[in-house]
Amino acid sequence: MSIDQPFSGTPAEPISTDPVDRVIAYHVRTKHHFNRYARSLGFLDWANQPDPFRRFEGAQLTRLPLLNPEDDPQSPSYDAMYQPDAVTSQPLTIRTVSRFFELALGLSAWKKAGESEWALRNNPSSGNLHPTEGYVLLPPVDGLDLMPGLYHYAAKEHGLEVRADFSPEQINEVLAPFPTGAFLFGLSSVHWREAWKYGERAFRYCNHDVGHALGSARIAAATLGWRMLLLDGADQNQVARLLGTHRQDDFGEAEPEHPDCLAVVWPADGVKREAQNVPLYLDEAVVSKLVPGPWHGKANDLSREHGVHWEAIDEAADASWKTTTEQQTVRLPDPLLTRSEPVHTSRTASEAGVIIRQRRSAVSFDARTAISADAFFCMLQRVMPQADEAHLRRPMPWDLLPWDPAIHLLLFVHRVEGLTPGLYVLVRDAKKLSVLQQSMNPELEWTPVAGRPNDLPLYWLLQGDARRLAAQVSCHQGIAGDSAFSLGMLAEFEGRLRQGGAWWYPRLFWEAGLVGQVLYLEAEAAGVRGTGIGCFFDDPVHEVVGIKDLALQSLYHFTIGGPVDDQRLLTLPPYHHLGRK
Ligand SMILES: Cc1cc2nc3c(=O)[nH]c(=O)nc-3n(C[C@H](O)[C@H](O)[C@H](O)COP(=O)(O)O)c2cc1C
Repeated sequence: MSIDQPFSGTPAEPISTDPVDRVIAYHVRTKHHFNRYARSLGFLDWANQPDPFRRFEGAQLTRLPLLNPEDDPQSPSYDAMYQPDAVTSQPLTIRTVSRFFELALGLSAWKKAGESEWALRNNPSSGNLHPTEGYVLLPPVDGLDLMPGLYHYAAKEHGLEVRADFSPEQINEVLAPFPTGAFLFGLSSVHWREAWKYGERAFRYCNHDVGHALGSARIAAATLGWRMLLLDGADQNQVARLLGTHRQDDFGEAEPEHPDCLAVVWPADGVKREAQNVPLYLDEAVVSKLVPGPWHGKANDLSREHGVHWEAIDEAADASWKTTTEQQTVRLPDPLLTRSEPVHTSRTASEAGVIIRQRRSAVSFDARTAISADAFFCMLQRVMPQADEAHLRRPMPWDLLPWDPAIHLLLFVHRVEGLTPGLYVLVRDAKKLSVLQQSMNPELEWTPVAGRPNDLPLYWLLQGDARRLAAQVSCHQGIAGDSAFSLGMLAEFEGRLRQGGAWWYPRLFWEAGLVGQVLYLEAEAAGVRGTGIGCFFDDPVHEVVGIKDLALQSLYHFTIGGPVDDQRLLTLPPYHHLGRK
């Protein structure tokens, strides 16, 4: 196989001015093919490896208390976290803010090999490059010890650095339409961090990572009895202004941040007993008043030099920039009407925090470990987003995304007891069965899997040993074939983009990243391990099931099985550098 990797950021030729055509052109251009990978440098420029930790020099840092895992007044079990209203809401305090950021974006360990030492985080990232930056917009709260304002999360210091002060009245006005006790959480991406290694394909990876970070934040919120909703109606200029990423003076020559999204977070008991409509947007008249507040700090440089600038990434970011505001609301059901019995069989008594902190990517699998059909079905049930009739609202974390699911799973089953090895499909939105069937080879079987839970739309397509095939289409990575099962996430692609607009492009990756985040934790809970797979040969995956056009596209792969640890690496505690053993 020959790998053709040009050494420069070839300008992306605009073939059309239509933003949807432009994001599709980016997508097609950044496919990996058997005989040609998407454009990247082709080697690692170690001298300019980006710093994974952004700081705003001159901005005052408030360190968050370093809590021991056992310090929680209430520490829900992993399963309780998924049950509606099973976790009592915690108030917003410096300790709960600390716990929220630790579990969402904090460090999980340091790894050491020889002289090198690098941090891992509770949210995973392609290549451990961590392009995602976290922000919080805090209202005035009695006893919080933080002034109302916008803060950037400094992961290595586990602290919040103040970017802008806002008057209590102004912040209260922004948050007035939301449930009592709400605050805003935001994410941005430093595209350069991923582009340094992955070149043009990096815009995809940054958005996978946004999806993972949204998931880790939603799940962190759930451990505190908090709810979270993506403010998807907001236009991206507003997101930029609220996160300060538009402040060129504060970034100077430093690597810019791309404003991705805002979400509202609130203690679940902040919802009044009667049903409440929560807006998915922010009132521009109110937000515009916030902008002139004083700003603090200058962004640090992450690399000495940048070598190649990947114009195709700017082109995709520009084409998918959201300029519209949709004044939509989500109706929260009356908590009295929602049922609160467990919806999933309990498999683990482990605390949620233990599972979240122990999450790691397997670097290889043992090609032996099988999982039971029950464990397999349980994992798949967790990625199903539908609210059932009795329950009225979507299960956590799917209550975060205010859209109908667009991602379905093409499964390569290798070692699941009681299931014939072969290809399967999980239709994450049962209404879409015929859409999927029509986009694939008409000779596939589509037999409902025997023994599956009634509400799990899992179909068997083809029998056969898919181990070699799975590894082959995942850039020849053995992790896709040596596991119990691996999968490709098939997105409803061109239809969603043409109907909704080019700004759907990143959202499809966010949903895929969220599926990945759920699977990472599910694997840990089941005593096995997962790994996200961003490197796969796009069209060869599609050919496996006869997908011929852009109606469906595989956006992300994942694999779960019995891990083999790398014994050469030393593991150190996450905050040992801050004096906590
Ligand atoms: C979007 C994404 C894509 C990834 N792609 C690959 C991959 O193709 N191959 C691989 O071995 N690991 C892959 N990983 C795993 C990362 O390398 C891993 O998350 C990172 O090194 C951090 O380690 P941790 O997950 O143990 O915290 C991917 C992870 C993510 C989130």
